[in-house]
Amino acid sequence: MAKQDHWDAVWTAKEPTGMSWYQPEPAVSLGLVGSSGVSPSAPFVDIGGGASTLVDHLLERGHTDLTVLDISARALDRARERLGADADTVTWVEGDAVDPPFRRRFAFWHDRAVFHFLIEAADRAAYLAALRRHLDPDGQLIIATFAPGGPDTCSGLPVRRYDADALADEVGSGFEPVTETREVHTTPWGGEQPFQYVLIRRSG
Ligand SMILES: C[S@@+](CC[C@H](N)C(=O)[O-])C[C@H]1O[C@@H](n2cnc3c(N)ncnc32)[C@H](O)[C@@H]1O
Repeated sequence: MAKQDHWDAVWTAKEPTGMSWYQPEPAVSLGLVGSSGVSPSAPFVDIGGGASTLVDHLLERGHTDLTVLDISARALDRARERLGADADTVTWVEGDAVDPPFRRRFAFWHDRAVFHFLIEAADRAAYLAALRRHLDPDGQLIIATFAPGGPDTCSGLPVRRYDADALADEVGSGFEPVTETREVHTTPWGGEQPFQYVLIRRSG
């Protein structure tokens, strides 16, 4: 099945609150965004944001330039339905993170549980090339993936698990790790999933 068909089917089958990755409040991401010092007026993109409530919380914190990219139009519909009128203040982009159709740069790039689906080295290279094209020279990013010891599949697809050093190595030269943290995420049915988060600053 094509990637997009897979994800449209996932986002049609269940309510967003029933997805394993659902968080009513993405507290770790919000904490890292806060600690990064990024201005609320700076362009911010949530890669594979799906129906994440991150945008709701960033809007509450005064962010004014928010973009959500997702491969699934159905996921973006779900998020827009939840946000109601506030959805009009967000830019919604349907596209693949390995070749996103952005025509601009961002000051902040956030990815929770998308990079870990990139099993093929060529896809990771394309994703990281897109990151370099679309992140400001002094921009910052958060990548969060399943940590070592976490599940080896997500939504029925295989994933790669990373610790903080491995994520920093993947992002490569010209970027400096700022901080990292682990979170044991609790799924809606009480399962535990260890996540690794890194906050990284572009330095060259
Ligand atoms: C595990 S969910 C995580 C959703 C969200 N980031 C969160 O933390 O709640 C993965 C999301 O990424 C999207 N996705 C998967 N592969 C993608 C890709 N190659 N490009 C863009 N979005 C992708 C899916 O549709 C889904 O919304």
